[in-house]
Amino acid sequence: MSAQSEGGEAPGADASPQSPGAGPASEVGDADMASTPNAAAPVIAIDGPTASGKGSVAHRVAAALGWHYLDSGALYRLVALMTLRDRLLGEDEAALASLAVRLPAVFLGGRIRLDGEDVTDAIRAEDIGNEASRIAVMAPVRQALVERQRSFRQAPGLVAEGRDMGTVIFPDARLKVFLTASAEARAARRYKQLKDKGISANLADLLRDLRLRDRRDATRTVAPLVPAKDALTIDSTGSDVGQTLERVLQAWRDEKRKQA
Ligand code: C5P
Repeated sequence: MSAQSEGGEAPGADASPQSPGAGPASEVGDADMASTPNAAAPVIAIDGPTASGKGSVAHRVAAALGWHYLDSGALYRLVALMTLRDRLLGEDEAALASLAVRLPAVFLGGRIRLDGEDVTDAIRAEDIGNEASRIAVMAPVRQALVERQRSFRQAPGLVAEGRDMGTVIFPDARLKVFLTASAEARAARRYKQLKDKGISANLADLLRDLRLRDRRDATRTVAPLVPAKDALTIDSTGSDVGQTLERVLQAWRDEKRKQA
C-alpha cells in the first residue's frame, strides 16, 4: 500500500510502496479483477484494531519473505470513497454491494487507481477510514469483497492484513497473528504520524474516533474484529515495529519447524 497511510495501518515511509496483492515477489494481484486463487500458497494472516501497526508489520513480513501483500482495508476504503462521492448510494446496501463486487480499481506499482483516477492518498484520510468502518458492518458489502480478497492468494505466499483475515477470509492460514496495542498508544502513534506529515490533529479527537471505530468493528454481527481461536496475540504497546516484526518472523519460523 501507499507509504502515506492514515495512522499506523499501512507501511512506513521507509518501506517500498505496495498495493493489495502487489507483493514483492511478482506483480500477481496487480490486475483489476480477481484471478484464480492458489489454495496451496501459504497465508500469514495479521488482524488487529485500527492503528495497531499491523500494516507496517504485515508489509515488512511480506518483504522479508518475498511474498505478496494484501491490505484488505484498502478495499473497504475504496468503497467508502465512492460512497462519500455519491451520497445517494450511502444507505443502499444492495447498491453498495454491487459496486463493491465490480469495484473499478486497479492496483499497480504501489498506486491505486479508481476509474482511472489515482486515489492512493485520498483513501488514507480520516473521514474515509470512518466511512469504511461504517459500511464494513453491511453483510452484503463484506460478502461482495470475499472472492476478491481470496484472489490475492498466490505463490509463493500471501501476507494478508485486516480485521477478519484469520477468522473469515483465510481460515486455513498457516499463521494467524492478532496484533493489538492500548488505545492510548495507538492514538499517540497516529497523532505523531499526522504531525510528521504536517497535518494538524487533536489527540483527544483521535482517541475518541479510534475507540468508536474499535467498538463498531468489534461489535458488528458479521465478521467482528476478534482474534481467531488459533491466533497468536501480540501486544505492541511497548514495542517498535522492528521488535514486533521479529516476533512474527520467529512465530513463522516456529510454525515451519513444526510442519517439517
Ligand atoms: O485497516 P483500515 O483502517 O484501512 O480499514 C478501514 C476500515 O475498514 C476498518 O475500520 C474496518 O471497519 C474495515 N475493515 C474491515 N475488514 C477488513 C479490513 C478493514 O471491516 N478486513
